[in-house]
Amino acid sequence: MQLKNMGLLYRPRRLRNSELLRSLVRETIITKDDFIYPLFVAAGKGIEKEISSMPGIFQRSIDRLGPEIDELLKIGVPRVILFGIPEQKDEIGSDSFSDEGIIQQATRYLKSQYPELMVITDVCMCEYTDHGHCGIIHEGDVHNDTTLHYLQKQVVSHARAGVDMVAPSGMMDGMVSAIREALDEEGFEQIPIMSYSVKYASAFYGPFRDAAESAPRFGDRKRYQMDSANMLEGLREVELDIDEGADIVMVKPALSYLDVIAQVRAVTNLPVACYNVSGEYSMVKAAAEKGWIDGEKVMMEMLLSMKRAGADIIITYFAKEAAGLL
Ligand code: PBG
Repeated sequence: MQLKNMGLLYRPRRLRNSELLRSLVRETIITKDDFIYPLFVAAGKGIEKEISSMPGIFQRSIDRLGPEIDELLKIGVPRVILFGIPEQKDEIGSDSFSDEGIIQQATRYLKSQYPELMVITDVCMCEYTDHGHCGIIHEGDVHNDTTLHYLQKQVVSHARAGVDMVAPSGMMDGMVSAIREALDEEGFEQIPIMSYSVKYASAFYGPFRDAAESAPRFGDRKRYQMDSANMLEGLREVELDIDEGADIVMVKPALSYLDVIAQVRAVTNLPVACYNVSGEYSMVKAAAEKGWIDGEKVMMEMLLSMKRAGADIIITYFAKEAAGLL
């Protein structure tokens, strides 16, 4: 049979004909510099405990962090965000603002042993309170303004320990301005704030709560984290955080909120971060383990989608694995 040329003027397939052409016209590139790797640091010694719902991700005590950091530096991911598992939890999350707290000790250790490593701390109370909520409880609810006072103490202690950047994640109103004020007052005006500006009350945090042992003991986080249905409210949160002095704004989770990332990108010239959260990681790992998907390819496609949506920075448990492929 004679095949007919239909006389099409523009044929998009022309630019897909070889990898050299495809890479020439590729619009989105992921680099190792886009990544921040989360680390779970546990109080104690000799701890190296894999999180059952997050294969490849461990809780480690400070004395076991070394090889992990060496690997990160070698592979080209010199940026970490720290989450702490304290020795003891109490009503007001005392470990979170103590100079001898797990995060403060870990930060001092990392910054003294690995000056080339960028250390970011998650600023929140849920890992340190015995009730598991992200603030101070008053009459059964997280009291916003009292919590701000504790967040101020927490960031100042992180700053004294030598942190490079702080990342408040508790979704308290006024949290960025309270933190900025506290840092500036103590002479830490050079420490940037990466705010979890648009953080949803999400079921995708499930595995993280195993990892950080931070599930709330009563109720849920819907009175401070955002309703998944809302976009405009997220843009109001971003606007507020910018007014309050945030240096980087974040959307979290990432995968089910790519539309939100794109909108945030459109309304601000600040760098935009997203958090590729635990549940997004675990889903890929579980399906790959069953042989249902190609885990590496799905991982890269997901990370690419976050960049394409407009994120400049991706906090991801995949950082090491993805960097190995770049
Ligand atoms: C709060 C915090 C959470 C995550 C990061 N910071 C959990 C929560 O809000 O319950 C979740 C990260 C993830 O799921 O990977 N400190």
